[in-house]
Amino acid sequence: MRPLIAGNWKMHGTLREAATLAEGVRAGADGLKAELLVCPPFPYIHGVAAAMLGQPVAVGGQDCHLVVKGAHTGDVAAPMLRDCGATYVILGHSERRADHDETDAVVKAKAVTAIAHDLIPIVCVGETLAQREAGEAEAVVRAQIAGSLPDGFAAAGGVVAYEPVWAIGTGKTPTEADIAAIHAALRAAVGPATRLLYGGSVKPGNAAAILGLPNVDGALVGGASLVPDDFLAIARAAG
Ligand code: G3H
Repeated sequence: MRPLIAGNWKMHGTLREAATLAEGVRAGADGLKAELLVCPPFPYIHGVAAAMLGQPVAVGGQDCHLVVKGAHTGDVAAPMLRDCGATYVILGHSERRADHDETDAVVKAKAVTAIAHDLIPIVCVGETLAQREAGEAEAVVRAQIAGSLPDGFAAAGGVVAYEPVWAIGTGKTPTEADIAAIHAALRAAVGPATRLLYGGSVKPGNAAAILGLPNVDGALVGGASLVPDDFLAIARAAG
């Protein structure tokens, strides 16, 4: 399975910084085993996608609405993302689940819409620190998978990202054994065809160890994706 290294730029950067970042990624993208993906903020997607035309770097959104048009001020529809050159969309990131009260059912409905409009969904799951300390991590991600992935997810090339909430932007990561255990449970749940990413404080220094674990098919990278050299170093660590 070809690894996927996805950069989630979150709500960072100016238009000019997005262009510089995209150019930095593009310049180092040739000849990698891993597939590269960058997910800029909505206003920058069209420009970044234009810069990546013909390049081995895919572009994605960080969310989409569950319906395709209508009176939903501030929201963005899946076909709009596709129209701007996106081919992927991150769904159910823990920041969206927390900030916008997104439930598994909402994430599932968004994934259905994304797939119907030729976007590959990357559905995020992951436990909070309290859930991990209570020994509930595996049960939490199993329940999120059961509730968030629609029928046809694997056939559409859907991707799952395991992101422990307490590891995001904190510099903390689970032990390699803990990552491997969750990914084994995810593999059992989703089958052999679905790429399983790990996300949460992935850096050049820990990427090779994490990406070398069984059932880890790539990474969803936040902070380190804002530095082209770091993002590309992580991609090279995928083989
Ligand atoms: O989507 C990316 C993740 O939330 C990880 O963010 O690499 O800054 O910890 P991070």
